[in-house]
Amino acid sequence: MSSEPQRTHHCGELSEKDIDKKVTLCGWVHTRRDHGGLIFVDLWDKYGLTQVVLNPQIDQLAHEHAQSIRGNFVIGVLGTVRSRPDDMINAKLKTGKIEVYVDELSILNQSKTPPISPWEPQDTAEALRLKYRFLDLRGPELQKNLKMRYDITRTTRNVLDCHGFMEIETPMLTKSTPEGARDYLVPSRLNPQKFYALPQSPQLFKQILMVSGMDKYFQIVKCFRDEDLRQDRQPEFTQIDIEMSFGNEKILFQMIEEMMAKIFKEVLNEKIPTPFPTLKYQEAIDRFGTDKPDMRIDMEIVDLAEIVRGTKFKVFAQVLESGGQIRALNIKNSADSLSRKALDDLTEVAKTYGAKGMAWIKVQENELQSPIIKFFDQEMLDRMLEKLQSKPGDTIVFIADTPKIVADALAHLRLAIAKLLNLVDESKNAFIWVTEFPLVEYDEIEKRHHAMHHPFTAPREEDLDKFESDPRSIKARAYDLVLNGNEIGGGSIRIHQKEVQEKMFKLLGIGKEEAEAKFGFLLDALQYGAPPHCGIAMGLDRIAMLLTGADSIRDVIAFPKTQKATCMMTQAPSDIDKKQLKELKLKADLS
Ligand code: AMO
Ligand code: AMP
Repeated sequence: MSSEPQRTHHCGELSEKDIDKKVTLCGWVHTRRDHGGLIFVDLWDKYGLTQVVLNPQIDQLAHEHAQSIRGNFVIGVLGTVRSRPDDMINAKLKTGKIEVYVDELSILNQSKTPPISPWEPQDTAEALRLKYRFLDLRGPELQKNLKMRYDITRTTRNVLDCHGFMEIETPMLTKSTPEGARDYLVPSRLNPQKFYALPQSPQLFKQILMVSGMDKYFQIVKCFRDEDLRQDRQPEFTQIDIEMSFGNEKILFQMIEEMMAKIFKEVLNEKIPTPFPTLKYQEAIDRFGTDKPDMRIDMEIVDLAEIVRGTKFKVFAQVLESGGQIRALNIKNSADSLSRKALDDLTEVAKTYGAKGMAWIKVQENELQSPIIKFFDQEMLDRMLEKLQSKPGDTIVFIADTPKIVADALAHLRLAIAKLLNLVDESKNAFIWVTEFPLVEYDEIEKRHHAMHHPFTAPREEDLDKFESDPRSIKARAYDLVLNGNEIGGGSIRIHQKEVQEKMFKLLGIGKEEAEAKFGFLLDALQYGAPPHCGIAMGLDRIAMLLTGADSIRDVIAFPKTQKATCMMTQAPSDIDKKQLKELKLKADLS
């Protein structure tokens, strides 16, 4: 056989209708079973597995050759498609009814014994899987995930193209962008002591493209943020970045809903109902404690401050006196399943988010069971149960603290309880738009306002006169898209008028010089006919994670970074040559 066999089919293709055909297959040895006379090889490529059979009576040489092949060898076979005997049919395989009897075999490459098995990678520690990512990527899970990720980007491009959007690339070596994380910096050899920043997003460029009349822009683009990493965060991640002129919330929401519906249909063959519901930021915080609520959990936060005012329970009384909140969750049908230990564990969850404790009441048929019951009179208890709609068999958990801690602790308790008691309806996909974010938030430590989204987000028209009088009550025309408790996108209507932009900078304490130094080119552009414009960026990795059902964002990225932002395969970041530093006129250790 030629050392460069021309394959006629791939390994997931052949079926009964190919019987008696002469075929050439190439691929990797998945498994090899030596049955004395016959050798069976499962030949793998990304399309599937095909069983090939080496019979010494057909070709003595090929059979001898086959005795030396091992797992992960790359081979080519020329042979004839035969139907498998009835008792050998594998109904689980697409090619399970046939096998290929080999006439000629050539070993295209050998393989060392791999340190992880690509076919059963889940048995291996993640660090090793990341080091040998090329083998891990050969396995079924990552093959499936990357294929789905590609299906998502392909569908996205099609939908945006149909809507008249054009993909335009923007620079990677650029200036700091306003997303608020730490920058990754790149030193400039030609301009010693000067640095580029890798973009945290193409925000400023896409706005400038609107000034240039590009009308509808998109880009599937890498963004870089040096921040603390989690299951759903990577230092470099991919956005589906979108901007349009003369749009508004209605037009943009509709288009994104269509895009998500098409992605779900294409990738999962699932129909998702549109339009998606919307929820105002404050309502999200009040009802779920977070601006990214998982709407699949049927449990909401209830405010009890007015009902328990006057209680003898010191903890609650003191919190109320200092302007704090007392809020609770009613956990339906849980009194039997929530043991004392489970309640202690939940208390620990609450404490992680700053709560000092977690009070609870178990509602029994004829009595209330709780360490704090003695502090409340009957009327208070009755009103409490009524407001919480508690019934016998339910458990109530309470947090008393500052509004921020109450919201944080109850939001995480809600998730922890739902996980513990299996309350998440996994069959649903709950999309929700969160709107009407505050324009700014006040930083008590730095004693200044920060933009909640970024400094180019427009306030509501009716709030324009509140910049001086009551800035914290100004609502932004910003929106997030949340899916099953994950923020999968965020954007806003932008400021396109110079005066409004100046008001915003003033509120943020950004002086003329600072604004000029940081965003001068955008401010300049905005003065030469900037159209009203708006946009959004969707987190592609997060969308892929949710659609594939992966536990971590790493499982949908070909070459991801660890929690410490390192690449186990390439060993980046790494030391660099003294010579390189010299060229850059940099010193290695400034500490
Ligand atoms: P924002 O900062 O909200 O908006 O980012 C948009 C979306 O990107 C995803 N995302 C991430 N995914 C993985 N790892 C990360 N470290 C990470 N950070 C963000 C999230 C998020 O919703 N320029 C604005 C968009 C705009 O206004 O048009 C922006 O970047 O899913
Ligand atoms: P103590 O009087 O401190 O023993 O608390 C009695 C109960 O109230 C315990 O179940 C505590 O966990 C709970 N508790 C204490 N502080 C708070 C708080 N800030 N909010 C809600 N419950 C609390």
